[in-house]
Amino acid sequence: MALAPPPQISMNPLKRLRMDLERERRRTEPLPPGELQFSIARTRRMRTDPLRLVLECYERYGPVFSMRLLHEPVVFVIGPEANHYVTVSHAQNFRWRDGSFGDLIPLLGDGLLTIDGDYHRRSRKLMLPVFHRDRIAATAGTMVEEAERALEGWQPGRQVDMYHWTRALAMRIAMRALFGFNPDDKSHGFDEAAEFEEALSYYATDYAIQILRGPRTPWARMIKAREQLDRLIFGQISRRRTSGDAGDDILSLLLEASDEDGNTLSDRAVRDQVMTLLFAGHDTTTSTVTFLFYELARHPQALARLIEEQDRVLGGRMATAAELMGGEALPELEMAVDETLRLYPPAWVGPRMSVEPFELCGVRVPAETYVNYSSWVTHHLPEVYPDPEAFVPERFAPEAKAELPKGAYVPFGGGSRTCIGMRFGQLEIKTIATLILQRCRLELQPGYRMRIRQMPTLSPIDGLPMRVLERTQPAALARAA
Ligand code: HEM
Repeated sequence: MALAPPPQISMNPLKRLRMDLERERRRTEPLPPGELQFSIARTRRMRTDPLRLVLECYERYGPVFSMRLLHEPVVFVIGPEANHYVTVSHAQNFRWRDGSFGDLIPLLGDGLLTIDGDYHRRSRKLMLPVFHRDRIAATAGTMVEEAERALEGWQPGRQVDMYHWTRALAMRIAMRALFGFNPDDKSHGFDEAAEFEEALSYYATDYAIQILRGPRTPWARMIKAREQLDRLIFGQISRRRTSGDAGDDILSLLLEASDEDGNTLSDRAVRDQVMTLLFAGHDTTTSTVTFLFYELARHPQALARLIEEQDRVLGGRMATAAELMGGEALPELEMAVDETLRLYPPAWVGPRMSVEPFELCGVRVPAETYVNYSSWVTHHLPEVYPDPEAFVPERFAPEAKAELPKGAYVPFGGGSRTCIGMRFGQLEIKTIATLILQRCRLELQPGYRMRIRQMPTLSPIDGLPMRVLERTQPAALARAA
């Protein structure tokens, strides 16, 4: 029996605005203190410099405060205690579906990110075996093959845009590992990777542009791309259901998934889940690889330690999936990735809607209020991470990591909504990083200054232009530092 999906909610921007205003009118309890007057400048700053803005409010008001963005007040809850409260100890009091990212539903449908309660719990239970360690380890071959292919032609002196290079590579890996598509097969008459990018790009446009409807708007382009992709995905689902010809990609595994009560996923649910996996996993892994090489180019000693580890442990061979998935074999790589995800957690905000009123850190928050926790802001609190702007991988030495308070380090969220693709993402990041570290060094262009965009995930605004250099010996790098 297929699980019954949750009720639909309106995606009409005017209706959603009316719902927000009605909700505010119904609210009988006051919101926490904060910046509650309407301000276009603040709303704009939230797009361009959210980290400083939220940190300033944290300094002014403490860990729980309100901030009006456009017409709508949002309560920010900041710090380890708040993260633990929202994701673990009181997770049932917060919904995702009608939080501020509900706008994802037109593309994603009812995938894990946009569902709550019993439907979320049962869907996740059905899906968890698909993300078992051994299943993910089995995708390592595809990751290595694709990364090696993408690295062909990386000669010393070549310029690469690390962000766009990684994005194209991650898309090919996702096509094969998630959907079982052959990215080189163009027989269906359109480029599915380009269609996916078109659909995803809608969410990187300004909110004021996103709500426009009508021909040639980003909305219309997203819907058109979605329709093309749906035809392809439903076609693939029906072919596999009728032929019984299962592959070892995630889509096939989801088609076969069932729980102990015999519940399965309908075709629509499988489509929504794979689309959600693509959305949640694509830019997050891309950005992490990009930020890692940005920081390594600025920290030759940290890079030297990584290269030395590669040579000592692997002696020129590719690491196995087991070596990449546990932190013990390559601890320097593990720490560098952990520190990158502290400084730049791509999914930097956890958007929710409160169900019942609650009290956190002595501040009361009403029911039916937008509530955001934030890994990025917590990871920059000096009382939790001294000298928070500095790239210091040793912060994540195993003993130091074990000492961190609950909720202090949450790049993958926490509790029952912890990132289901965490292992897949980490394996992909480390596979790509290992192959690059074994072949060459990457240098930043002189004068390059990174500017970060924060929607839908943290990533460099103008890509990351870098130059490929000969691989340098660790000792020479350490001397040059
Ligand atoms: C560096 C890589 C990644 C990072 C930093 C990351 C981060 C996160 C975070 C923070 C959440 C929780 C959001 C919240 O609490 O509101 C999340 C959820 C999720 N992630 Fe990831 N993610 C990554 C890679 C992936 C990959 C590769 C996939 C898929 C293959 C994926 C699929 C998902 C899904 C489906 C959820 C929703 C889980 C649920 O609500 O049950 N993620 N991710």
